[in-house]
Amino acid sequence: MTRRMVAGVALTLGLVGLMAAPTVLRSYSPQSVRAEEGDKADTPMEKHMEVLDKGMKKLRRLLRKKDAREEALEYVVKMEDAALAAKLLTPPMMEKISTDDQEGFLTGYRKEMASVTIDLLEMEIALIDRDMDRAKQLYEKLKKLKKDGHEKYTEDE
Ligand code: HEM
Repeated sequence: MTRRMVAGVALTLGLVGLMAAPTVLRSYSPQSVRAEEGDKADTPMEKHMEVLDKGMKKLRRLLRKKDAREEALEYVVKMEDAALAAKLLTPPMMEKISTDDQEGFLTGYRKEMASVTIDLLEMEIALIDRDMDRAKQLYEKLKKLKKDGHEKYTEDE
């Protein structure tokens, strides 16, 4: 690689880094965690988690049934949206994390929610392909991601 090419690659990487940084940092603000003050509604993250929860409960039954593929697909697609949205939020537990550890906490959370999204997309492909064994495997993977994620990023589990 010539020196000019190396400089070009370095510049591109630098720009990508600069573009990504504010996205990660913006979500550090504790204000972004809670719904508006006085609002008794769930946090936005809880709302997305409830979509995941309802979907998992439905899938448990649907993946065992014959001819429930279409219905299963509908839930999986809704869950993908919920996982993508939740990925960009900040877990309330962040307030309890020391400043030095906040970046690691938030990026760890984000990567795990990205894995949830990937597994849901893979489940969508499995269902399209009528590969129910693969869909069931992914369901088990998602259950494990939930357990691990809650152990690390929530306070009461
Ligand atoms: C299929 C997977 C998952 C399901 C079904 C699920 C389900 C839930 C449910 C039912 C709640 C409680 C919502 C409420 O109180 O109304 C919750 C909360 C939460 N979950 Fe998950 N979850 C999943 C994956 C994950 C993963 C992978 C992580 C972390 C990487 C995570 C992090 C959290 C956090 C931080 C909360 C607390 C939200 C808040 O208090 O505002 N979850 N989840």
